[in-house]
This record gives sequence, structure tokens and C-alpha cells, in this order.
Amino acid sequence: MCTNADHSLAADITEGSPVVRVGPDHVHIKDIDAYEKSVPTNGTVPRSFLTFTRVFRNGTNFEKDHVFYTCADNDGSIFSLSNRDEHRARRKALSPRFSKKAAEADAPAILNQIRLLEGFIIQHSSLEKSCNVSDLFRVFGINIVAKTLLGDCHDLVQYEEAKPELLETVDGLSVMLPILRFFPYMGTISNIMPSFIAEQLTPAGVLSFKKTCEDYTQSMMDKPIRSDVESSRSSVMEILMAHSLETTGKLPKLNYLTAEAFTFIDAGVDTTGRTLAAAVYYVLRTPSVEKKLQEELDSLSLWGSENTEDIVRNVGKLPYLNAVIKEAHRIWPSLPGPLPRVVPSEGLQVGSYFIPQGTIVSATHHSMHFDEDIFPEPKTFKPERWLRDDSTELNRYLTPYSRGSRACIGIN
Ligand code: HEM
Repeated sequence: MCTNADHSLAADITEGSPVVRVGPDHVHIKDIDAYEKSVPTNGTVPRSFLTFTRVFRNGTNFEKDHVFYTCADNDGSIFSLSNRDEHRARRKALSPRFSKKAAEADAPAILNQIRLLEGFIIQHSSLEKSCNVSDLFRVFGINIVAKTLLGDCHDLVQYEEAKPELLETVDGLSVMLPILRFFPYMGTISNIMPSFIAEQLTPAGVLSFKKTCEDYTQSMMDKPIRSDVESSRSSVMEILMAHSLETTGKLPKLNYLTAEAFTFIDAGVDTTGRTLAAAVYYVLRTPSVEKKLQEELDSLSLWGSENTEDIVRNVGKLPYLNAVIKEAHRIWPSLPGPLPRVVPSEGLQVGSYFIPQGTIVSATHHSMHFDEDIFPEPKTFKPERWLRDDSTELNRYLTPYSRGSRACIGIN
């Protein structure tokens, strides 16, 4: 949910001091040494060092900054929830659908998408035409996320030369996010205005993105509720409707489910698509990496097998491929920007700075991924760093999906 400009911002502002004020009640923190070390308390000030393990951990009491996380008018979605109990219940209902096992069961659909994508690229290259892999991977992302979200909805978007409208609308929102961050109520206000005013207040694309999500959601709500909803196989929409019926006796409201659909498409499409595109980009511009990766993939004897779950399981175990994926995540964390949290009642000590309750603190994964002490030559794409004997230690500093209870639900 962040622009590339934030990459350099994150790097620059943390250059001198570990704590930099970036707004009236907002500080940005980079304190790698403090991430992992625990310092004894002297009795007066809580020595709760900012650490990814402190702020981004299971059961954290650093709640999400509600204003920031609802600025895209997605209040009520799992992404936006700041109340811990409410979030825990929603996450518990949805987690089985995002487990490793559920992802493996989706393997045939995923491989089918890969074959369509491959077919499109081969056809284009035989005609010596170029294509935009970032958009193609995002189309792939849309179709996979849509299947998880809505169930069998056929392919929502086709692999084609023209940029699909749904991608234009996702991009409309991305362009607008930096503005919405500072004028967070624009989305809410435009919702209650007549459409000709709303169109002026809201960026091109966002209104139609929401309308698209609403249409999909409405079509799901119009279907009869199935009695055999399975938490690991059914669609997110069905699970949420069944969960609401079970806990409140009522179906959820259309605007809540729309916010959830909006969130899942927004959270799952650009992240996945652009990370894949970044991986392809770095592999292709590093011939030694391309060669090694090709050799490893060629050595897999399962290609051509009908057992797609086996293929996926075995591809997942390839060491060099895994190192390439980790390195792509490190060098191109798709959510590199600040993830703002609110300091709880005990305050927060970062080195010699005490940050009081209620202050918004943000930290970025990008600072960690580009720290020279942890990752020497951080701007160089080097999958080999993940294959060294001591590389297990490095894993704790690779956090593209964040950590703890608010980490990405789509990690598998
Ligand atoms: C390369 C792929 C992805 C990356 C790097 C990524 C990264 C992240 C990160 C860093 C967060 C935490 C954000 C924060 O605290 O502000 C997050 C949360 C989330 N992601 Fe992802 N994501 C990816 C793919 C997906 C996919 C495919 C889906 C859905 C199908 C998804 C759905 C979500 C949701 C719903 C949350 C909020 C979770 C919660 O608050 O409980 N993400 N993601």
C-alpha cells in the first residue's frame, strides 16, 4: 500500500537517528540493533525496545492506526480491524482457507493459470512482440485471488494485450493512496455525495473498483447459502456469510462484504503480481542466476506428471528456487512503506527516546532488508546469500509478509 517513493524516504529519514518525527504525533523508527536485543530495565522507564518481535508479534498490543488503515474506505475489513478480539475471531474463521494444505489443494487451478500465462507469453514471443509481465502477473493474481474470494467464478480477467479495466482500477487506487493517507475521509465523504460530486473527490478508478467489488459481492449474496460450507475449501465470501450467520444469526451487510472483497483484491493482486515481476526482472538481468535456476528446474523429473499437487510440493522444495524467491522478497518487499501502529499505555523506549502512549510509530521492512550489516551489498541480487551455512540466522530479518498476528494471511 505504498509507492516506490517511500523506498527512498524510508532509507533517507533513518540515516542519522533511529527515531525521526514524520508528523505531529507520528514517529518513524529504525533501530536494527534494538530489534533483537533485550536491555535490562532500570526501574523507572519501561525498557520496551521497539523490535519487530515487540511490535509485530502474536498478541501484540500495538494496534493498527485506524485512520491510516481505513483511508481507502475499507472500514470493517480484516485489514482495517484494530480491535484485537474482533480481529482474532475473523482471522480464526478465515485461516483454514489460507493454510498450506488449502493452498496445495488449489494447485490445479494455479497450474492452469500458469499454463494460460505461459501460452500467452510463448505466442507473443513467437511473433517477436513484447509484453508487460507485471500486468500479466497481476492478471494471474486477480484470477487466483478471485477464486479464493468468490469460488468458481471462471477467469475474471483474460491474458490479453490491452490492460484489463480491473487493473486500471487497482492502479487508480494505488495512485490515490498517498493522498488518501493525508486526507483519509475523502473516500467516506464521496460515498454520501451525489455521483457527479463523488467523481471529483475520488480518483478515477477507485469508484469503479468499489462498484466492481460490490457487483461481485451482490452476486454472491444473491445465491442461496450452502449448508456444506467448509472452512478450508469454500470461498472467503461463503465462509464469511456462514460465520456471520453462526455468530449473529444474520447475513453480513453488503457494504461490509464489499469492503472485504475490495481489501482482498487490493492486498493480494499487486503484491503477488509485482513480486513475481520483480523476481523475473532480477533473474533475467543476472545471467549466472538464470543459468543455475534453469538447471535446477530442468532437473525436476515430475514435469509432465498429472499429479499437480506433487508438482507443487516438489517445486516448493527446490533450494535454489527458494533462495531466488527469498532474495526477490528481500530486494523488492512489495509493501515497503511504514506500517503504522499506536503505542500502548506503557509507552515505548527506543534507545534514549521515550515515546508516549498514543503516538503513532511506524517501521518498515525495507530498512531491515537494505541494512548493510545484515545483508552486505544490499542492492545486489544474490540468491546465494540464502544458501550459506549461516543463512538460517538471516531468515529473521526477512519480513516481506510482516510478523505476528497481523502478518499476511495470504503467505501460503
Ligand atoms: C507477495 C505477496 C504478498 C505480500 C508480500 C504481502 C504482504 C503483506 C504484509 C506486509 C501485510 C501486513 C500489512 C500491515 O501490517 O499493514 C499483509 C497483510 C495482509 N495480506 Fe498480504 N501480501 C501478499 C499477498 C497476499 C495475498 C495473495 C492475499 C489474499 C489472497 C493477501 C491478503 C492480506 C490480508 C487480508 C492482510 C491483512 C491481514 C490481517 O490484518 O489479519 N496478501 N500482506
